[in-house]
Amino acid sequence: MIDTHGRNINKLRVSIGEACNFSCIYCVDQIGAHQVEPHHLKFDGMLKLIELLKTHAGIEKVRLTGGEPLLFRPLPQLIQGIAELGISNIGVTSNGYLFPKLAAVLKEAGLKSVNVSLDSVDPKNFRRLARAGNLKRVLEGIESALLAGLKVKINTVVMRGENDHELNNILDYAFSREIEVRFLELMKMGPLFKKGNTAGTCSEKGNSPITPDQFVSMKEMLAEIGRRYSYNPIQAEHDSTALLFQTPQGNFGIIANESAPFCASCSRMRLTATGNLVGCLSNPQEISIRHLINASDPGKELQSLFTQSIAQKRDSTFTGSSLVMSSIGG
Ligand code: GTP
Ligand code: 5AD
Ligand code: SF4
Repeated sequence: MIDTHGRNINKLRVSIGEACNFSCIYCVDQIGAHQVEPHHLKFDGMLKLIELLKTHAGIEKVRLTGGEPLLFRPLPQLIQGIAELGISNIGVTSNGYLFPKLAAVLKEAGLKSVNVSLDSVDPKNFRRLARAGNLKRVLEGIESALLAGLKVKINTVVMRGENDHELNNILDYAFSREIEVRFLELMKMGPLFKKGNTAGTCSEKGNSPITPDQFVSMKEMLAEIGRRYSYNPIQAEHDSTALLFQTPQGNFGIIANESAPFCASCSRMRLTATGNLVGCLSNPQEISIRHLINASDPGKELQSLFTQSIAQKRDSTFTGSSLVMSSIGG
């Protein structure tokens, strides 16, 4: 569907649940603090909503997120169901830990790509940042995904004093495996939004070691990368979240939500695990479409609710919001 700013909203991000086997320091305040909503859609309801969004709202690409989407038991069936709707561009965003077990099955079901969150290539630092899992297993997950023929990208959230000294080591690893890394500027979401809000909405007593002042800008990242690699900006896809750079060893990207917001070319709609549409990461308002699962003629109402949700998108700047990344899936 095209919005009033001429943006074609054709990519759907579906968060299939908040549960996660990691507790990344920028995502949750405490180990195991993912709040799991009790009223999640079952596999068939979720698939039905995706079908309705394809038929009536023009969705063409689907990315499954979480929490950790590989914890969702019927994930292979869901991917196969989405592929059978005629949607061939299906990706997941994952922490990679369960890929050694599931890569081949997911590929067989119709999965095309995976964005693996990898914030460190130092085993000790990895464990400190993810507060679970282990680096070796995630790297095995990446190898399994490559072996299964999936397209792999790496997402690294850059935090001052935590992993900003590792950018070039992460690039060394990624270039050796011919994988594109995207370094992410820290986004003020969920607990970080509350902490960044000195205006008074802060009720957060959290003990997260991360604060918004650990933000590292794209400019600073490029300065660090320039110490080891020479790079040039190159053209990315029109609705890419990342600005792309070329080096003689390979390409990398930076997702610069704060310094180079991409709201003006945003093509994304979000569906939560409880059946709500979320038009914008910077706006916590959710619009339920769950009741349409069993409606006899849902087309018009769905289009109207989709239009309302698109209207919540911002025109230009990213502000962050109280939305929790592990619920909304980024
Ligand atoms: P591909 O371009 O298909 O690889 O996907 P992607 O960049 O949307 O996927 P991914 O799940 O890896 O997201 C990377 C980062 O981009 C996450 O931190 C997301 O929160 C952020 N992001 C994705 N979509 C949007 C968006 O619409 N707005 C903003 N502000 N950030 C987004
Ligand atoms: N800022 C930037 N990126 C984040 N992610 C999760 N929380 C944040 C945050 N506050 C990333 C994850 C994942 C992607 C969907 O979003 O690491 O790669
Ligand atoms: Fe889990 Fe992703 Fe949050 Fe890390 S960022 S705790 S992997 S949901």
